[in-house]
Amino acid sequence: MNKWTLPALFVAAMALTVPVHAADIAAGKAKAGDSCSDCHGDDGKGDKKFPGIAGMPVEKFTQAIADVQSGKSGKNKKMIKEAKQLSADDVANLAAYYASLKK
Ligand code: HEC
Repeated sequence: MNKWTLPALFVAAMALTVPVHAADIAAGKAKAGDSCSDCHGDDGKGDKKFPGIAGMPVEKFTQAIADVQSGKSGKNKKMIKEAKQLSADDVANLAAYYASLKK
């Protein structure tokens, strides 16, 4: 073992055990059930009135929420209110969840 082996192992272990902002699909699903599925549907497919968001790529979803939060887009008052209540973690989890659903 040279003098770097232990520090290197330590760094590798930290990287494995403390993933910063790892998206949590289960948490995203729970949040979606609480806040989003009333309009976008349990399967995220939406309907005539509400856009489908299932299968949306993470970047596109994240940008869409950011645009609603910043007032750049969004007309539906409740949608805007829900978006503004989301933390960065919520958005990451929801993005992972909806991206995991079939279109
Ligand atoms: C009251 C119904 C309603 C609720 C609740 C709601 N939305 Fe929406 N959502 C809409 C509507 C309507 C739009 C279309 C834009 C608009 O009119 O504001 C939209 C648009 C979106 C878009 C952009 C779609 C696109 O194609 O650009 C995303 C992403 C989205 N909603 C995610 C969510 C998430 C995540 C939640 C839960 C935190 C949520 N919505 C809760 C009604 C809702």
